[in-house]
Amino acid sequence: MSQVKLIVSNWKMNLNISQARILTKKLVKIQIKNNLIKNIICPQFILLPIISKFVKESDILLGAQDCHYKKFGAYTGDTSIELIKEVGCKYVIIGHSERRKEHHETSNIIREKAKLVISEKLKPNICIGESFNERKNNKYLQILEEQINAGIPNNLNEVIIAYEPIWSIGSGLVPTVEKIKEIKNFTCDFVLKSKNISKIYFLYGGSVNSKNISDIFKFSGVDGALIGGSSLIFEEINKILTFS
Ligand code: PGA
Repeated sequence: MSQVKLIVSNWKMNLNISQARILTKKLVKIQIKNNLIKNIICPQFILLPIISKFVKESDILLGAQDCHYKKFGAYTGDTSIELIKEVGCKYVIIGHSERRKEHHETSNIIREKAKLVISEKLKPNICIGESFNERKNNKYLQILEEQINAGIPNNLNEVIIAYEPIWSIGSGLVPTVEKIKEIKNFTCDFVLKSKNISKIYFLYGGSVNSKNISDIFKFSGVDGALIGGSSLIFEEINKILTFS
């Protein structure tokens, strides 16, 4: 393994307080032999202060699933980066396709969020990904280029990008490792050229599970995974975190 791998659990709008406690209590006991794996969990906002207490003495790192692009103000229903930081988050998922679709988030908004997260010394995990039709019509590289161009700030020391084809999320469909590799190479070249960022953590997300993780890691050269459904099942995430 060349560099640290990030395993990011995106719990989405799942788990009540007691289910989240039970899962976290099990997660903190996992012995990750390999200290090159970072275990990052992203619970719902209301769970964050509760889970934060459980993971304090462990290697688990906390992330939020979103934040507002302004520091504070009249934004009913939104959550500020200040509170996210105060509860101990080190990462923030930005621009997930579910936010782009359900909350009409544009790449410009995503860039503003990423800038704010970085200015507060947290790490944005910026999501990109094409739809099924965009893939079918061979438009995927163009779409990814547009999302990177508008959504990622310039001249950063490093950036985390999660490639999540929308057609793969929750569907059980996963691109071949060659296809993931193609997107990784394309993204890294493009981000270096157009954004002047050379250190890129390229994550793959979309129907990752304990059976496909090892091939994805071995053959596509990704630096980690963003995991939804499988991160809610202890047996699955345990195998994923300890696979190597
Ligand atoms: P999935 O979700 O692993 O359930 O496909 C991934 C994601 O949306 O981050």
